[in-house]
Amino acid sequence: MNRAAAIARNRSGRQQPGGGVSRALNEWGTSSLDGRKFLIWALGYAAVGISLGLYMAASQNHGELVTHAHILLVGFVLSLVYGIIHKLWLEKPNRAIANTQFVLHQAAAVTVSVGLFLLYGGLATEATLSPILGVASAAVLLGMLLMLYLVVRFGSGKVVTESA
Ligand code: HEM
Ligand code: HEM
Repeated sequence: MNRAAAIARNRSGRQQPGGGVSRALNEWGTSSLDGRKFLIWALGYAAVGISLGLYMAASQNHGELVTHAHILLVGFVLSLVYGIIHKLWLEKPNRAIANTQFVLHQAAAVTVSVGLFLLYGGLATEATLSPILGVASAAVLLGMLLMLYLVVRFGSGKVVTESA
């Protein structure tokens, strides 16, 4: 089967026996669904973070620089990296741990984003926000450590080959 036919057959949603392109493209197992969730959230952070960047540029007020940078780096970039890890290396990770890692990272990234926005916008005091940002930052680290565990414990290479 040529590559186009393999892709077309794959898109029909039926399970393909055997290996090759169709098998690799068919790996919409549980982990790829996690990858898709991460991708959707990543693009959401990108939209918010870039909007804030445009606002800073337009207003010539760069006061939210740190917020902008961390919405994009902790939110967009890390979520995208986690999504790519799920897609490329995690075949059948433990469901409970994978879900915990996803929820933990998103809760932490949203808290860091909102907390920094309030802090640099002068909308809440540092005394109020410091402990919240501290816990949320530790949660970002814990999310990273959980992903490290998932990769060490369940990671494998998913190889896309041309042969069908
Ligand atoms: C149209 C899109 C974007 C606009 C208009 C924009 C705008 C800005 C502005 C005005 C600053 C402040 C610069 C300064 O005061 O030194 C900034 C800083 C920054 N931006 Fe963006 N940005 C955009 C996209 C992105 C993206 C996609 C990323 C990362 C994935 C990013 C990461 C950063 C970082 C890390 C800084 C801090 C740089 C530093 O420490 O000096 N930006 N951006
Ligand atoms: C939640 C965990 C994190 C904490 C607690 C943290 C903390 C900080 C702090 C305190 C600064 C200095 C801000 C200032 O200039 O006053 C900073 C800057 C920076 N961080 Fe992070 N960071 C975290 C995650 C990350 C990640 C995951 C990335 C990249 C993927 C990143 C990239 C940067 C960059 C590029 C800057 C310079 C731009 C800026 O000043 O905002 N950080 N971070």
